[in-house]
Amino acid sequence: MNQDYIKPNKWSIIEEGFDASRVESSESLFSIGNGAMGQRANFEEKYSGSTFQGNYIAGVYYPDKTRVGWWKNGYPEYFAKVLNAPNWIGINVSVNGEQLDLFACKAVTDFKRELNMQEGWLSRSFTATLKNNTVIEVKTKRFLSLDTDELGVIKYEVTPVNCDANIVFQPYLDSGITNKDTNWDDKFWDTLKVSHENHQAFIQAKTMKTDFYTCTFMESRIFINGKFVLIEPNINADANYASFSYEHRVKQGEVYTIEKYGGYTVDRNHDKSELVSTAKKLLAMAIKTGFNQLLEKQKEAWLKIWERADITIEGDIKAQQGIRFNIFQLNQTYLGKDSRLNIGPKGFTGEKYGGSTYWDTEAYCLPFYMATKDEKVARSLLEYRYNHLEKAIENAEKLGFKNGAALFPMVTMNGEECHNEWEITFEEIHRNGAISFAIYNYYRYTGDYNYIVEKGLEVLIGIARFWQQRATFSKDKNLYVILGVTGPNEYENNVNNNWYTNYLAHWCINYTMENLEKIKTEYPSDFERIMNKVKLYEEELKAWKDVADKMYFPYSETHKVYLQQDGFLDKELTTVADLDKNERPINQKWSWDRILRSSYIKQADVLQGFYFFEDQFTVEELERHFDFYEPFTLHESSLSPCVHSIQAAKLDRMDQAYNFYMRTSRLDLEDYNHEVHEGLHITSMAGTWMSIVEGFGGMRIKEGKLAFTPKIPEQWEGYSFKLNFRNRILKVDVDQKQTNFEILHGDDLEIFINNERLLLKKKTLKRVN
Ligand code: BGC
Repeated sequence: MNQDYIKPNKWSIIEEGFDASRVESSESLFSIGNGAMGQRANFEEKYSGSTFQGNYIAGVYYPDKTRVGWWKNGYPEYFAKVLNAPNWIGINVSVNGEQLDLFACKAVTDFKRELNMQEGWLSRSFTATLKNNTVIEVKTKRFLSLDTDELGVIKYEVTPVNCDANIVFQPYLDSGITNKDTNWDDKFWDTLKVSHENHQAFIQAKTMKTDFYTCTFMESRIFINGKFVLIEPNINADANYASFSYEHRVKQGEVYTIEKYGGYTVDRNHDKSELVSTAKKLLAMAIKTGFNQLLEKQKEAWLKIWERADITIEGDIKAQQGIRFNIFQLNQTYLGKDSRLNIGPKGFTGEKYGGSTYWDTEAYCLPFYMATKDEKVARSLLEYRYNHLEKAIENAEKLGFKNGAALFPMVTMNGEECHNEWEITFEEIHRNGAISFAIYNYYRYTGDYNYIVEKGLEVLIGIARFWQQRATFSKDKNLYVILGVTGPNEYENNVNNNWYTNYLAHWCINYTMENLEKIKTEYPSDFERIMNKVKLYEEELKAWKDVADKMYFPYSETHKVYLQQDGFLDKELTTVADLDKNERPINQKWSWDRILRSSYIKQADVLQGFYFFEDQFTVEELERHFDFYEPFTLHESSLSPCVHSIQAAKLDRMDQAYNFYMRTSRLDLEDYNHEVHEGLHITSMAGTWMSIVEGFGGMRIKEGKLAFTPKIPEQWEGYSFKLNFRNRILKVDVDQKQTNFEILHGDDLEIFINNERLLLKKKTLKRVN
């Protein structure tokens, strides 16, 4: 049974009623972030029930020493850990001598949480009857400022309902925190100094090994019935902790409020000697501006994001909520302001997946950022990899490759591989292909060829070199094979000739050669500069070409399909329909050995290739492959349903496309894969966006122009999306009868609709039936 407790709502995620068994799921679902930091929706006050505490600072990680039973040469030294950062949100509350703890109350009624996605804040309200019979009403609201990356704000109100009450607010900072996920139970933070003055406190701490210096800070203000009151606090501090206690006798019905301002300053952005003084400046600004004004700015900042990125769906509230949740979470995770950062699969919502960057960024996230933000955001995602090229070459050298061959990491924080399962680190080499594909995809969409000239070609060359060296010439087949790989389907390891990987290798080499030719003729001086740097000669190019021309692709004449890998047909070909629902997800219920021998597919693999290279296959071929592989596919990776949704829409199977859409867009809200308590699936959320724009909208790039084949599920009255395309903002509005195209910004634009050319005049609306 999937979970179903989130109330359908167009703009908010809402939970009603307190249920301790849902706390960890909700902590993920109601997470907040601003691209520079983020946090799970932990309660401010003490909570003694089951909880997963998490505050995260973008780019701050720990290289946890790899733990394996048997060391294999080539293993990375460490597995990066997304670090639980010092806690600044904590506010303990005591009422008539008893600590507020929802897990220990006599009764909790009218509990409601709301994550308002339109305005970017999280709120909570409830009435609690404490063991001492005091009844209080509590209301909280908090947000992480989009305008000021390092600042967060909390308003926490308590009203005694049945008597006067002695209430103590105890806001605190705590750096004595741990990670759930550690290899050796190491301590990750070293607290350097705890200090306080007036109503402000600071904890300076650095991460062990990586030496990220941070200052966690707070300042609080107290109000009664909305009026500021000066209460002198009691101060409590030790080696990792600082708190102030604000005590007051609150009359029955009076509202006792604390506003807490806090956050982190980090030496990635400031000199480490200035972390405290910068924090003080931020606090001064925040206090002066005040909660309400900061909230207004927050609303404005989110309004700007939504103006570009919103997708509306009429007639299906759950579908609408799903897409907005996905768009919201993507923007909470990455805004493209800092080119050193990237999009972690769990964003700021959990620790799983250690590193921040996977192939997910190139294969799934890039299209979303290209179309909903300025072009430079997508470009900086590509530059992130360019900046890691040297490390990718070193990484390949460690594995025995040479001469500038580059293997980008499967998982990384800083360009180094930081994942240590051999079947992933050594074998999931397809990530190199997604990185090349993203360069192509970026150029195809933006028309910005300069990127390839300035940076992209060097990345393509490093990757082409890798493929040529990684392929083996099989005398038996008289073709090149690629042995010992893991494809996107991680339910197979160490297979030979994964079709997707072989196809990518072949494509990458050809695409690199095409660009070499183009740059040689059209940009001769750049060509010379690049050649001097990479030292690429004719002999090597011949070797590349040989590999690309003679690549082996496993194929079944019986089924007329490319085989996912050699020997796929030797499996017992049972389908998902044959599998007892109680056995799912198999990655939680079955042994690995059993998974590997089965025919079950975790995520799109051959179909991922058909998604990237759709133009190179006919619709009949797509249909045949879809029909062959989908029945074996469990979609136990969040990245899977979106690709299937897009392809089902292309094949006019609107019901299937709709079901896959709902699955991708509500994957976390309904916890399809039974793991939402660990955090959200951020990167696949970009796939949800693609399901609408590329799936139902049928958006493609054809001859450098936008092309659409709009379709609409019967469950919807209409839907609309916007695209930022080559200095235009285009709005596409589809309903059951027609599609409207409107240029909201920029010049006339020629597009294709159902394969016919159409000139859209600026600022006019064009209806197409
Ligand atoms: C998927 C990978 C993906 C990773 C992070 C895994 O479950 O199989 O393809 O890169 O999650 O999202």
